[in-house]
Amino acid sequence: MQRKISVIGAGKTGATTAQRLAERNYADIVLFDVVEGLAEGEALDLLESGPILGFDSMVTGVTIKDGQGYEHLAGSQIVIMTGGIARKPGMSRDDLVKTNQKIMHGWAEAIKEHAPQSILIVLSNPVDAITQYAAHVTQFPRERIIGQAGILDSARFRTFIAQELNVSVQNVDAYVLGSHGDEMVPLPRYTTVAGIPLPELLSADRLEALVKRTRTGGAEIVNLLKTGSAFYAPSAALAEMTDAIVLDRKKILPCTVRLDGEYGLSGVFAGVPVKLGAGGAEEIVKWKLTDEEVVALHKSAQAVREVLKVMGI
Ligand code: LAC
Repeated sequence: MQRKISVIGAGKTGATTAQRLAERNYADIVLFDVVEGLAEGEALDLLESGPILGFDSMVTGVTIKDGQGYEHLAGSQIVIMTGGIARKPGMSRDDLVKTNQKIMHGWAEAIKEHAPQSILIVLSNPVDAITQYAAHVTQFPRERIIGQAGILDSARFRTFIAQELNVSVQNVDAYVLGSHGDEMVPLPRYTTVAGIPLPELLSADRLEALVKRTRTGGAEIVNLLKTGSAFYAPSAALAEMTDAIVLDRKKILPCTVRLDGEYGLSGVFAGVPVKLGAGGAEEIVKWKLTDEEVVALHKSAQAVREVLKVMGI
């Protein structure tokens, strides 16, 4: 195939993302890891599912060893960064920062050198700050460097709302903005169930309980798994972003991008509604927020700035 997508990290999230994308049959997939043989093994197994499932995307794996192998990034339309360590019970996403910053640094240099025209989607945590760090290293324009968090957080919120109201998740449209952490900003006013705003359907108490569960949705899974963090929903979110770009869907999705004055914020990455198409983050959609919502969004951005300080940028 002419289109190539690189997925960095062959752990559960990276491998599941590669699987979802290979099965879409619209691009060849290259999976990367530093653990010898891991990417090749995952890729080969995935490739061998093609004859059964009916896709013919090429799937290859590359081990990065002694600084070699990065050249396989060349020609990627999209690079998806899932590399890094994940949380263990009791850890916050910010606890990962120093290690994942270092890992992101090497990859950002390589992406800048070998895939300078690609669109980079970042998942590694703490995602808003790591995305900003990748932008700092690559100097990619803001359209081409996008973090994933809001789709995942919104999907969790949608799941909990659908369960609470006993309706299909398909009827629930929800948006969670801000940073991917305790300060995330679920927007009940812009959350609808078959067109009806959520505050009309739920008591304030129940609404608050669902918002709280959404904020701690990642930790809920870390505490259950004990040895890793969520990967099915995160990889689904990455695939939705990739679809929007590959198919030029112009889909409005909550994504982490650099803000240049939008929502009163500058020089910081945070989750806002973004129109995703072939050009990447083609537009930041400006919603009217209440004063209270703006305060929450700014508080959320402040949490990202605190992590940037730790990173030294
Ligand atoms: C989560 C991690 C991936 O929210 O940030 O599950």
